[in-house]
Amino acid sequence: MAKTDRAKEIRTQATGPIGVALIGTKFMGRAHSTAWGKCAQFFDLRRPPVMQAVAGRNPDETCAFASKWGWRTSTTNWKDLLKDDAVELVDVSTPNHLHAEMSIACLEAGKHVACEKPLAGTLADAKKMVLAARSAAKKGVRTFVWYNYRRCPAVALAHRLVRDGRLGRIFHVRASYLQDWGGPDTPLLWRFQGDLAGSGAHGDLNAHIIDMARFITGDEVVEVTGAIEETFIKERAVVANAGGEISGKGAKSSGRKAGKSTVDDAVLFLARFKQGAVASFEATRLATGNQNRNNIEINGEKGSIKFDFERMNELEWWDHTLDPKLRGWSRIMCTDGAHPYAGHYWPAAHLIGYEHSFISQAADICAMVAGGSPVVPMPDFEDALKTQCVLEAAIRSARERRPVPIRELDKF
Ligand SMILES: NC(=O)c1ccc[n+]([C@@H]2O[C@H](COP(=O)([O-])OP(=O)(O)OC[C@H]3O[C@@H](n4cnc5c(N)ncnc54)[C@H](O)[C@@H]3O)[C@@H](O)[C@H]2O)c1
Repeated sequence: MAKTDRAKEIRTQATGPIGVALIGTKFMGRAHSTAWGKCAQFFDLRRPPVMQAVAGRNPDETCAFASKWGWRTSTTNWKDLLKDDAVELVDVSTPNHLHAEMSIACLEAGKHVACEKPLAGTLADAKKMVLAARSAAKKGVRTFVWYNYRRCPAVALAHRLVRDGRLGRIFHVRASYLQDWGGPDTPLLWRFQGDLAGSGAHGDLNAHIIDMARFITGDEVVEVTGAIEETFIKERAVVANAGGEISGKGAKSSGRKAGKSTVDDAVLFLARFKQGAVASFEATRLATGNQNRNNIEINGEKGSIKFDFERMNELEWWDHTLDPKLRGWSRIMCTDGAHPYAGHYWPAAHLIGYEHSFISQAADICAMVAGGSPVVPMPDFEDALKTQCVLEAAIRSARERRPVPIRELDKF
């Protein structure tokens, strides 16, 4: 047996818990800690996770985080995780510019990696990550990306409806991800610094709806035909400490007044899918009155679906095959045991929330590491690169004012 096949076989035959380590202790650090801590309670896992180690920056804060959220040990040097034999998988939940360095080092050390989205701040970094994932895969090492909205039961159901032909030929994808926390009072967090974030609302929010559109339709974007990029708030207050919240609430002033925002506040673009559908995407942090309105509508020959994360337990469905006098929008409460993931949680109409998509993703990751299959397809680095190419195409299209085919970007 070839050496690489043997290494793969050893990996898939491993037994016992999966030692997980987390890098990053704030927003996603909390969401992912919940997920690793709860997934084996809601799902029967052959190899449940053990929350082995967490890496942060500040020693006291990281230590307090570890004891509050259930991590066995903590460190302020993430590279300690590379040498730790008890760590089998590393969860990278840090700002975007760190995804490549951290993920590649972990893959080279033989650790599976579950990285936050977008895959990277830049397309060049994303490609380096894919090359590292390809060589790690030869040794049975796997990659995962936290496009968690795929695992909302309503989104997973939409994916299955399309897969089962219930929408027929798809004509339109209409997606927007609208938030409103990015007004002038929000300080210059890493999310507004191009060298750290890569982009603004675009990589943060469009990334999610591009992934959802690809996941639900099972199709790929082949061209971005036009785009607008806008930065409304050009300068923001410089802060010494970012506070604990996404909007920087609680941030401490640095004494320096203002710095330049180097990312978009909003990006809108039009695109074509391979099988002929046309699509519009919009992401903004300044859609006053929309707090987390991750919203997608898909219109097909035989039916349509609508999803809005602010009503995440519901999927709206129009069945165009019905007798015309019976047609109308149905509001499906996706909490029945027959709906994807829902049976792992509570009885019908006992609603689930934000953290459950992460819990379901952690469960699917553990199942895959143990050689099993996810409930619905899981994005790996290779898959997330496709979303990254669409992000890049939209930015090029906005800046160069021209259509950008994906084939211009996806070569190595
Ligand atoms: N899946 C989702 O829905 C979703 C939602 C929000 C954010 N994200 C993504 O998650 C990632 C993190 O975002 P966030 O909102 O948690 O940011 P955050 O600012 O709340 O937290 C970032 C964490 O990274 C830590 N960190 C930074 N540099 C580090 C280093 N060198 N070593 C160790 N730790 C370091 C910080 O101390 C902090 O704990 C980003 O890629 C973001 O795009 C995804």
